[in-house]
Amino acid sequence: MTVKNSLTPLEAQITRIEEMTSIEKLFYLKLIDLNTVKEFHYTPGQFLEVSIPGVGEAPISICDVQREHGRLQLCIRKVGRVTNAIHRLKKGDRLWIRGPYGNGFPMNLMENHDLLLIAGGLGIAPLRSVLQYALLHRNSYGSITVMYGVKCYSMMLFREEFLKLFREGDKLNVKFLLAYEDSDDFQCYQLSCERSDRCMSGLVTKLIESTAITPDNTYAVVCGPPIMYKFVVKELTQRGFTPAQIYMTMERRMKCGVGKCGHCITGSSNSIKYVCKDGPVFTYWDALKTRGLM
Ligand SMILES: Cc1cc2nc3c(=O)[nH]c(=O)nc-3n(C[C@H](O)[C@H](O)[C@H](O)COP(=O)(O)OP(=O)(O)OC[C@H]3O[C@@H](n4cnc5c(N)ncnc54)[C@H](O)[C@@H]3O)c2cc1C
Ligand code: FES
Repeated sequence: MTVKNSLTPLEAQITRIEEMTSIEKLFYLKLIDLNTVKEFHYTPGQFLEVSIPGVGEAPISICDVQREHGRLQLCIRKVGRVTNAIHRLKKGDRLWIRGPYGNGFPMNLMENHDLLLIAGGLGIAPLRSVLQYALLHRNSYGSITVMYGVKCYSMMLFREEFLKLFREGDKLNVKFLLAYEDSDDFQCYQLSCERSDRCMSGLVTKLIESTAITPDNTYAVVCGPPIMYKFVVKELTQRGFTPAQIYMTMERRMKCGVGKCGHCITGSSNSIKYVCKDGPVFTYWDALKTRGLM
């Protein structure tokens, strides 16, 4: 990848915007400069520094699998200065991207294994790229189980796509499970009536508790709010997953994204990690060795 670690922002045009929830939009981008298009490659789990001149920059995961040169998707939640400004943009407007940065998920290492993807809320964004990659290279992976925890039906991201997998995933050897926090949510309740073994009220950990998963020949890939990791990892290790079988993608305050500014450093003298450069994907084993990583 020639643009790797380049600090030069590339101009991108918004070709489509999908309103996913009240706070999240899916942006379809196209790179403008045809000379850079062919050199722009990304892998699942990598992120970009997305900027609007005069406003600022924010790290955002790429949430699709690379199919076409120079095209990509970002799912962005409006939380502050930069993301609110991005949400005000319209189809045809332009923004700037640096990257892709970070190590991404070890898709080659995980080949010929079963995949267990566990996401909470917006954490599904980087895991969607893992799922899409595994589906695109379907014969290279074993069974795929997705466990997705949401607050309620209206906060479910990529709803149409995932409901299709919920109903028809078996044809692709994909089991899609949903946990919802709001026990009064009628639409989620209806899904649980459709498949009580695949949709249940509770936290995402309930799906792990109620499903017969084994660590044999399996990698677990986890992404969600910080509090989720502790409980998910506990459930997985109780089921016999080793720390090296659990991959997690971590968020930190970032500035440069390339290991220069030190904003994302974590750990102590024994083990220091730059989350932007050594991560954002780490194993649970890395987390055990690096203070403050999880
Ligand atoms: C590797 C990586 C991948 C990410 N991928 C996505 C993505 O795909 N989609 C998406 O919407 N967001 C993603 N984020 C989070 C996003 O970068 C932050 O929310 C970012 O700060 C938003 O910028 P802002 O200027 O809009 O918000 P700010 O004005 O900077 O902050 C708004 C609020 O968010 C809090 N905050 C800011 N950054 C973080 C952080 N890293 N962790 C926890 N709290 C934070 C602040 O404390 C504040 O309360 C990712 C972050 C990282 C590090
Ligand atoms: S964000 Fe600058 S070193 Fe990681």
